[in-house]
Amino acid sequence: MDQKITITMSENLKPKPADESSLGFGRIFTDHMFVMDYAEDKGWYDPRIEPYSPISIDPSSMILHYGQAIFEGMKAYRTTDGSVVLFRPIENMRRINVSNNRMVIPQIDPEYMVKCVKALVELEKDWVPSSTGTSLYIRPFIFATDTFLGVRPSKTYKFMVILSPSGPYYPQGLDPVKIYVEQEYVRAVVGGTGFAKTPGNYAASLASQAKAYESGYVQVLWLDGVERKYIEEVGSMNVFFVIDGKLVTPSLDGSTLPGITRKTVIELARSWGIDVEERRISIDEVFTKALDGRVSEVFGSGTAAVISPVGELFWNSKKVIFNDNKIGNLSQKLYSTITGIQYGLIPDEFNWIEKVV
Ligand code: COI
Repeated sequence: MDQKITITMSENLKPKPADESSLGFGRIFTDHMFVMDYAEDKGWYDPRIEPYSPISIDPSSMILHYGQAIFEGMKAYRTTDGSVVLFRPIENMRRINVSNNRMVIPQIDPEYMVKCVKALVELEKDWVPSSTGTSLYIRPFIFATDTFLGVRPSKTYKFMVILSPSGPYYPQGLDPVKIYVEQEYVRAVVGGTGFAKTPGNYAASLASQAKAYESGYVQVLWLDGVERKYIEEVGSMNVFFVIDGKLVTPSLDGSTLPGITRKTVIELARSWGIDVEERRISIDEVFTKALDGRVSEVFGSGTAAVISPVGELFWNSKKVIFNDNKIGNLSQKLYSTITGIQYGLIPDEFNWIEKVV
């Protein structure tokens, strides 16, 4: 696939945010967006960049009724020499096809999607912030547009990419977060959609997020949907534990998102000679070993959040504190290395960076 992208420039350019320290996450949007349509007889067609604006949707559009959609999260970074780069973009685009496959949405050429994202980011390069911890968050998404109320896969879709100059996802940045272990609700089950980046997984998480907030916790740790025993992921991140000096993370058994930052953490840790285990971890194991002083740090990993240290877990009316509620050495080293590579402060030995401009 190599269709030419048509560009229509906005005539009303918005002022760029003056204060990069108060960007927040996902609140401000740039001047342009990428759009491409799908129809059965045409395949993916009409790739275009046009002024960012609200779109009109027929009230009977299938996305509004049955949620057939997927999304991705990536970032463009301003490096110290002023370039704009992406981090492992092909991984996100391959994951789009994994999500599409589960949600019966037609596949798209991953290399072509990287090209479309690069074209949009290049056009919007002046929106990429440069202060520490900021980036241009990239949100590709696809949704079903057939106007029909029967339950079946749509025959038409829209693929869009929007951009948002953003600061840290969690306002507390690198300060350890308190996490509530969910025992009532589940996020996903094996055979369901947990491994796909589809909006319903996130909608399903909201009730428990609201409950966690009410109890003074900022995120939820999900247990498996069958035994409510094995750890799956944290809020919108994968989760890691340092147990007896080994880095342990839940294996990808079908109900957990295969995170790109998760993969990066595993590859970096192994390159540093750290033993990494991908396996089932029960919440009981974590509590028992933590009380014996064998769990030295816990952190979440994700594109939006990067590395987010966990200071406290609450489960079954019990509480356990990790590393005195301080960021651990490995969490700090991973954060500094990943962001160092992304901002061009550390050589990119793994070839993870792709320059846009
Ligand atoms: C990301 O980490 O980019 C995500 O997509 C998680 C999101 C729900 C903020």
